[in-house]
Amino acid sequence: MTRIVSGVKPTGHLTLGNYLGVLRRWAAADQDRGEALFCVVDLHALTVEHDPARVRRLSRQAATLMLAAGLDPARCTVFLQSHVDEHARLPYLLECVAVDGGMRRMIQYREKSARARAAGQSVRLSLLTYPVLMAADILAYRADEVPVGEDQTQHVELTRELAERFNQRYGRTFVVPRATRPAVAARVMDLRDPLVKMGKSHEATAGIVYLLDEPETVARKARRAVTDSGPGVSYEPGTRPGVAHLLEILSACTGAAPEKLAAAYNGDGALKAAVAEAVVELLRPLRARHAELSADPGYVDAVLREGAARARALARPTVDAAYAAIGLLPPV
Ligand code: TRP
Repeated sequence: MTRIVSGVKPTGHLTLGNYLGVLRRWAAADQDRGEALFCVVDLHALTVEHDPARVRRLSRQAATLMLAAGLDPARCTVFLQSHVDEHARLPYLLECVAVDGGMRRMIQYREKSARARAAGQSVRLSLLTYPVLMAADILAYRADEVPVGEDQTQHVELTRELAERFNQRYGRTFVVPRATRPAVAARVMDLRDPLVKMGKSHEATAGIVYLLDEPETVARKARRAVTDSGPGVSYEPGTRPGVAHLLEILSACTGAAPEKLAAAYNGDGALKAAVAEAVVELLRPLRARHAELSADPGYVDAVLREGAARARALARPTVDAAYAAIGLLPPV
């Protein structure tokens, strides 16, 4: 059976980008296509300046939102990364097959470390090794597929290289996984800047729709989306990125093609109103389910406890095999 692994990082409140990019597809397709594990990768949230209380809060919230989005513990495994020791046990071995230059070339490392330096902050070593931790998240489960957003393909590529190199040197231990991507709206952009990803950890929030935003807030953000002064509505991603992006969001909500939707509106005011309504309706059931689940923290705890137990049982033998293969004596 196809093994599917993915994760979401609790560095900020989850956004419409997280939902349309991956969460929705995890729930609608991935959890039924094989044996799927979805993880709140809380260890990854420690790679940049963080507030411990906030990470705790966001981790629980992310897990609750994953369930609210439709992940069903009867059909998939939902857990916190830090609850499964294998995620901390494996990265060191992978660091012994990774090379320094390859890690420094990672685009996300380069961008984030430059940002930290510009803000006068030091760069944590864990930011550099982050992709190795991510590789461990995937390889520990012998995953075949990793459904992620476009910005993660380089990390999955590195994961493949590490798996291949380890297997070659120390014997077949890991499955070489591949990244998979949803067909539409894999990349949701900031409504105030259609050239920048809608990032949950960004500081300027006016262009970011959070999954738990009030409907009025969602509507306001949609109304204030940056478009252009061109006439009418047309789908031209190259020259009219703002309008094109709104059409893509609407397309992701309604299932209709962006080109076809463009013909239905004569101005960007009408388009923004339609986007506002579509997104509010898309998020309504998710918000309602999140409220229900939040009222029952015992249930969420139980899901995470059972999820971690299942994940541990799957990862343990593979990580043990890697320890043995690389030359470490098993405990006597
Ligand atoms: N790096 C991913 C992100 O920023 C999150 C992540 C960590 C992940 N470990 C993973 C995704 C394993 C898929 C599989 O979105």
